[in-house]
Amino acid sequence: MARVPRRKVTVIGAGNVGATTAQQIIETGLADVVLVDIVEGLPQGKALDLAEAAPVIGYDVRIVGTNDYADTADSKIIVVTSGIPRKPGMSRDDLIATNATIVGGVVKAAAAVSPDAIIIVVTNPLDAMCHVAMRASGFPKERVIGMAGVLDSARFRSFIADELEVSVRDVRAFVLGGHGDTMVPLPRYSTVGGVPITELLSPERIEQLVDRTRNGGAEVVALLKTGSAFYAPAASVVEMVESILRDRRRVLPCAAYLDGEYGVRGLFCGVPVVLGNGGIERVIEISLTPDERAAFDKSAEAVRELVEHLPA
Ligand code: NAI
Ligand code: 2OP
Repeated sequence: MARVPRRKVTVIGAGNVGATTAQQIIETGLADVVLVDIVEGLPQGKALDLAEAAPVIGYDVRIVGTNDYADTADSKIIVVTSGIPRKPGMSRDDLIATNATIVGGVVKAAAAVSPDAIIIVVTNPLDAMCHVAMRASGFPKERVIGMAGVLDSARFRSFIADELEVSVRDVRAFVLGGHGDTMVPLPRYSTVGGVPITELLSPERIEQLVDRTRNGGAEVVALLKTGSAFYAPAASVVEMVESILRDRRRVLPCAAYLDGEYGVRGLFCGVPVVLGNGGIERVIEISLTPDERAAFDKSAEAVRELVEHLPA
């Protein structure tokens, strides 16, 4: 009897985020993983090491490392992490020219052999790289999604939980807008056991947590000195991968191509979406106060400026 092929997720970039994402996907048994990098031996070595951990940890999905996109054919999801990360003093936006070339090239090669895949973009500057991925793949907007909001919200959730000394499991939070200094954490929609944090914390303390969230990536960069965060980013990607593969239809903040939603057209920006088997099943529009609206518009404008600076 012919074997039904297992679901395949390709992770491009075998660096910190890519390798950790691959590790978390196989450890949860979600899919077979193909790890790709431009550096010869790097994805093969990491994949072999992860495969040799399988008997100890007990996962039976497969992982292979490669420099050849033929091995990625028929992937259900392509996660794009290839590029250069931030160093201290650099903003995410400083990465644009180098990473646009890298992302454009890898997406073109991967999309050609997996024309029905869903692309999750991780490389920074995130919202601009989503545009590059959409252009290079020719995929419809439902199948090109940026990972940022899950991470930024997770940071906000962890700071709120620490502050109130409660389990992170009971904290929900939304961070919208671009993945940059203008991101928009929304305290009104951030709850502990269903109670908005505006009922539990002073406006001054909330502002401090919001600031720390906005600077969450830079805080880790300043400590690491040689790169940027990868454990929480990888966990955030895997939450999105799981919602898609298992058609969970989770409502998660992701960078989506807006086509009039939130009054924005022709731009990727972080908004709540329903993530299912087809990718973005729906953008959820929540009501914003005039201040929240102004902050969202400012963030969208920052993304638009960045996109205008993309190489042609
Ligand atoms: P890293 O330097 O550890 O890994 C990047 C990998 O990409 C390297 O192994 C490199 O060889 C590979 N690469 C470079 N050019 C390539 C090409 N043409 N084809 C295939 N592979 C190629 O960097 P790290 O920490 O994994 O970060 C990756 C990217 O993700 C960075 O741009 C970083 O800023 C971004 N990032 C975004 C986050 C988000 O929230 N969206 C969170 C964390 C990181
Ligand atoms: C982060 O937020 C660098 O974008 C990356 O950690």
